[in-house]
Amino acid sequence: MSELKNKKSLVIYFSRADENYAVGYVDKGNTEYIAEYVKDITGASLFKVEPLIPYSKEYSKCILEAKQRVGNAPIKNKINDISEYEVIYIMTPVYWGSYAPEIETAIKDLDFTGRTVRIVTTHEGSGLARVVEDIKKICKNANILNDSIAIKGTDCIRARNKIEEWM
Ligand SMILES: Cc1cc2nc3c(=O)[nH]c(=O)nc-3n(C[C@H](O)[C@H](O)[C@H](O)COP(=O)(O)O)c2cc1C
Repeated sequence: MSELKNKKSLVIYFSRADENYAVGYVDKGNTEYIAEYVKDITGASLFKVEPLIPYSKEYSKCILEAKQRVGNAPIKNKINDISEYEVIYIMTPVYWGSYAPEIETAIKDLDFTGRTVRIVTTHEGSGLARVVEDIKKICKNANILNDSIAIKGTDCIRARNKIEEWM
């Protein structure tokens, strides 16, 4: 798998700062650490998926907002063409058992033909949950590798070695 490290890569990720389960108020979301480690290790470009309307800073409000956004989650900027990248990393926190709804908005119209996709979730107990199967439904024609990993949110800040091994 190590040759993948040298391919032109893009990380598409969602991550939210502010108050979150288990970590309290943070300036940087858990998944963002993982995206940055992959960038460091592979030279990948980063595309951060951002909601058009930010989520509430309070965790208790955010979880309700996220539920309402399933299937209707506008984002600030879209990426339209991924044809120059051979490997696409999709990274998302687990939200209610699946990806953050904005991830779907970001990837559903992209043409993944011939692209290799690797998936990372961060979570507080659900692991990969339904993320891989739900991404498979929208990334048609992608070569989704069978090596997805799930990293506990509170471990992300110290997960660089784990990511290097995964590479
Ligand atoms: C709206 C919302 C829903 C969540 N749902 C789940 C869940 O179903 N299962 C789980 O293990 N963790 C859940 N979590 C915890 C996050 O997946 C976890 O804290 C993740 O690392 C956050 O990533 P981020 O800091 O990059 O946004 C949820 C968190 C939020 C804010």
